[in-house]
Amino acid sequence: MLTLRRIINCANLAFMDTQASTRARYSRIAMLLHWLIAISVIVNWRIAEAGEHAAKAEKEAIMANHFALGMVVLILTVLRIAWRLGNKPPPLAMHLKAWEVALARVTHSLFYILLIALPLLGWVAMSSYGQAIDMFGLFDWPVLPVAKDVDLAGTIFDVHGVLGSAMILLIGLHLLGVIKHLFIDRDGNLFRMLPFGKVKS
Ligand code: HEM
Ligand code: HEM
Repeated sequence: MLTLRRIINCANLAFMDTQASTRARYSRIAMLLHWLIAISVIVNWRIAEAGEHAAKAEKEAIMANHFALGMVVLILTVLRIAWRLGNKPPPLAMHLKAWEVALARVTHSLFYILLIALPLLGWVAMSSYGQAIDMFGLFDWPVLPVAKDVDLAGTIFDVHGVLGSAMILLIGLHLLGVIKHLFIDRDGNLFRMLPFGKVKS
């Protein structure tokens, strides 16, 4: 009888542990979108850098990829935000200090703002040039109905460049957070965004 009760208790504990770690993790769709966006943004940053240092002849082709991948990031981000609105993300870990919660909230919000603003500004600027974005030779992204204004387009791209650099700094900060939680706090925070590993809620 005692053994049977022990077995039932163990099964209950295992079930509760699975439930707790499910609540501590993002959903599979959120994870998929997070990693697709993260990889696309990092690749797009490297493409922009390559374009800036390329000779004039190659620059155009390289930057065409930056424009197209940027619009893919816009689509993925709209999907991510829509999913987030319909599917509540897990609450931030209970053991985080107040400043960590504040910093995480600010960083994540700024990410979403930049993920929308960067491609949107690029789209408006291209439209002000009167030029469509070639989506990897598959189709043309529509031009916005804005007046042709080459000076304005140049200014918007300058702002885009500054915000692009801000995005890189933010990624650095985000990564420092991941490294701190992984090696100093050892709380398994990284695994909230992965379908495996142990998470401390
Ligand atoms: C989420 C998507 C995007 C990200 C993360 C991003 C990021 C960046 C970064 C990091 C730079 C280099 C900044 C520098 O070092 O000066 C840059 C430059 C640039 N990007 Fe984007 N970009 C995105 C989407 C787009 C789109 C959709 C367009 C156009 C349709 C575009 C057009 C440009 C141009 C023309 C430059 C050169 C700007 C300059 O410094 O004069 N980008 N971008
Ligand atoms: C490079 C572009 C990246 C962007 C734009 C980005 C963006 C974001 C955003 C917006 C969130 C908040 C999710 C939400 O609550 O809706 C988040 C969470 C997270 N990211 Fe990233 N991320 C990037 C790269 C990375 C990398 C490279 C790692 C790991 C090595 C990482 C690990 C995480 C983790 C573990 C969380 C969950 C934080 C928590 O809620 O405790 N991210 N990321």
